[in-house]
Amino acid sequence: MDKIVVLDFGGQYCHLISRRIRDLGVYSEVKQASTTKEELLNIPNLKGIILSGGAASVYDKSAPKCNPEILKIGIPILGICYGHQILAYLDNSKVLSGTAGEYGVTDLKILRPSKLLKGLKKIGKVWMNHKDIVKTLPKDYLVIASTKHSRIAAFANETDKIYGVQFHPEVTHTENGIKILKNFVIDICKAKREWDASHIIQNIKQEIIEKIGNRKAVIALSGGVDSSTAAIIAKEVIGKNLIAVYVDTGLMRYKETEFMEKTFTRHNLNLKIVHAEDRFFKALKGVVEPEKKRKIIGKLFIDIFDEIAIKENAKVLIQGTIYSDRIESGITKHSSTIKSHHNVGGLPKDMKLELYEPLRNLYKDEVRKLAAKVGLRKDIIKRHVFPGPGLAVRIIGEITPQKAEIVRKSSYIVEQELKKANLYEKVWMAFTVFLSIKSVGIQGDARSYKNPLVVRIIESKDAMTANFVKIPYDILERISTRITNEISEVNRVVYDISNKPPATMEWE
Ligand code: XMP
Repeated sequence: MDKIVVLDFGGQYCHLISRRIRDLGVYSEVKQASTTKEELLNIPNLKGIILSGGAASVYDKSAPKCNPEILKIGIPILGICYGHQILAYLDNSKVLSGTAGEYGVTDLKILRPSKLLKGLKKIGKVWMNHKDIVKTLPKDYLVIASTKHSRIAAFANETDKIYGVQFHPEVTHTENGIKILKNFVIDICKAKREWDASHIIQNIKQEIIEKIGNRKAVIALSGGVDSSTAAIIAKEVIGKNLIAVYVDTGLMRYKETEFMEKTFTRHNLNLKIVHAEDRFFKALKGVVEPEKKRKIIGKLFIDIFDEIAIKENAKVLIQGTIYSDRIESGITKHSSTIKSHHNVGGLPKDMKLELYEPLRNLYKDEVRKLAAKVGLRKDIIKRHVFPGPGLAVRIIGEITPQKAEIVRKSSYIVEQELKKANLYEKVWMAFTVFLSIKSVGIQGDARSYKNPLVVRIIESKDAMTANFVKIPYDILERISTRITNEISEVNRVVYDISNKPPATMEWE
């Protein structure tokens, strides 16, 4: 399959570039900035290279750099923001520390025709986020567009097919940004659009044959779309050698175990339900630190899977980890660890099982397309995502079975009310958070001193950024009334109005 590689210079939008290209139907993956010329040449069907943005200045000692040799391998290159500056820098041109910088939307004026900006209006909006600017260009390069503060806002070397844009075509604020990426990927790189659900499934199946062969594997089934999709695909390849394990940690959704039994019997999966509620609550007793909670849960999960594997003689553990889980757990060199996702960063090093993550390079919407293709039931595909550590990340302070029950029931109320209002499928997640504090209220003419609950309803496309949903007040009121009426431990409900960033979706 034709490929476009995005070299990661540490920009927060690096993965977005790769996503956009996949949306165009071309396979793309992110690699480290230091990837060598030889490594690039060894990638089969590599059609183009994109140098991402990044926070550094090309003159910083620690700034990520790539080898100038890559400019000579004869594969089209597009530099974006820092990538644009590094291209000029590598070709011995001048990059200047800008005095004012440009942040936000600005007008881009096209100066001359180019393959990269073909079909764009003479003046259009682009999104900028930079301080340094390219001051001069090597002799074969032409300035193709300018903005008020960047004379060289875009350049082209049509002979060697090397292009740079100071702005970010991958963000939605850039008008025709997708068109620019399409011009590069399809017209300049001539990449074939072969990346679709059937191809992805075919590739995963081939990989399963190679990685698992005749061995037995256990899959951690959480009831979410990721692990369910991985399970169905794996079952199609290894059949009865796949043991799907659902662990009831006591921190799962409302009536989840019943849901799992019903759903996966229909899908003909060899499903094992493990009741481990007591073990989880015992291990978490007295623990309040979020990362510690995550690590304990991750470790206990693996212990349970190790035990099952020994009993069943299974050698491989399959997990439904997807790309965004890994990014946030700090897998890429220049991204920082935000949380140890229990199915990624929280795994102990001495695990007995071999770990295999068939969906590791896919984004959520890609997984949903696969899920539909393999015939996964709609109620799973459309289901909200649920974090691996479960309700543990929604209980601030010590975790107890009682607090878990309060969060479980109240989250169910939130979901029910959203379903009634036809909003459930329009939001990314909706749940409550238990705060280990109390406040005064008045219930039945008497003073009450009870716990408040936070309602959090968010929308997101890819989990990387998110906004709180501007839910109509009457629905919020219904949610609040039902929670305080139906859950006796709660006398107050608040709505979380934070976006991500600066907050994360989960509270821990
Ligand atoms: P945050 O809170 O990081 O969440 O903004 C982004 C998305 O990831 C989910 N999440 C997890 N999923 N294991 C998972 O499988 C985890 O440890 C984990 N932590 C957060 C979260 O529910 C949201 O959808």
